[in-house]
Amino acid sequence: MRTPFVAGNWKMFKTVAETVKYVKEFRNLVTNIDDVEIVLAPPFTALHAAAEAARNSNVCIAAQDLHWEREGAFTGEVSAPMIAETGAEYVIIGHSERRTLFGETDASVNRKIAAAFAGGLTPIVCIGETLDQRERNETFAVLDRQIRDGLDRVRSDQLAPLVIAYEPVWAIGTGRNATPAQAAEAHGHIRKRLQQWFGAEPAELCRIVYGGSVKPENIRDLATQPHVDGALVGGASLDVKAFSEIVSRSRNAQV
Ligand code: 13P
Repeated sequence: MRTPFVAGNWKMFKTVAETVKYVKEFRNLVTNIDDVEIVLAPPFTALHAAAEAARNSNVCIAAQDLHWEREGAFTGEVSAPMIAETGAEYVIIGHSERRTLFGETDASVNRKIAAAFAGGLTPIVCIGETLDQRERNETFAVLDRQIRDGLDRVRSDQLAPLVIAYEPVWAIGTGRNATPAQAAEAHGHIRKRLQQWFGAEPAELCRIVYGGSVKPENIRDLATQPHVDGALVGGASLDVKAFSEIVSRSRNAQV
């Protein structure tokens, strides 16, 4: 049985002060939820404050990106050891906004996954097709390429802690979520490929979460689909009550 995983990706929102206020309120709202892995991903500037505010709670902290080197002349970049030092334990890698706006490729995703593991961070790896690709019936081919090239040389024993976020690009920030059937189909495909390429047991342990216009109103229908192990939430995670409701409605969704 996989523990549901729900993460809030704040993107470029919230100052340090706003983050601390949110985390203090949020940890109280989810304090009794011990059957969901709960993660918040604030901007780099607020990571340390978020980790301090979440200390001794069931809320963990993620960065939204990292560089693959430990240190060096890479202006503007942040490395895995620097992120780990803030108290963050996870890192989002290959979000579609990084792929489309900042030139992220499957090759850079692959280097970042290796760096995350080397630095003791758990990767949350984002994959997903654009609307064009879906309409050309290329969804599975795109997912296959992103998994094969992105997860190249990931060991089978590293697949269990790793989280894959299926985020169809056409559903991100559009208010148009994938239907439960579309999510189930894509997640089933991803699980099948993981089984083929990493073996049945590691594939069974890997969490595959859905992202794209998740809200309190639709989380239950999505999270009850087979192979949907939780959610990566953008806009709705900025509101503390909406996000705590999403976490709460993700409980026991697979039962
Ligand atoms: P929205 O929930 O705002 O559609 O964003 C999804 C996302 O990109 C999470 O990483």
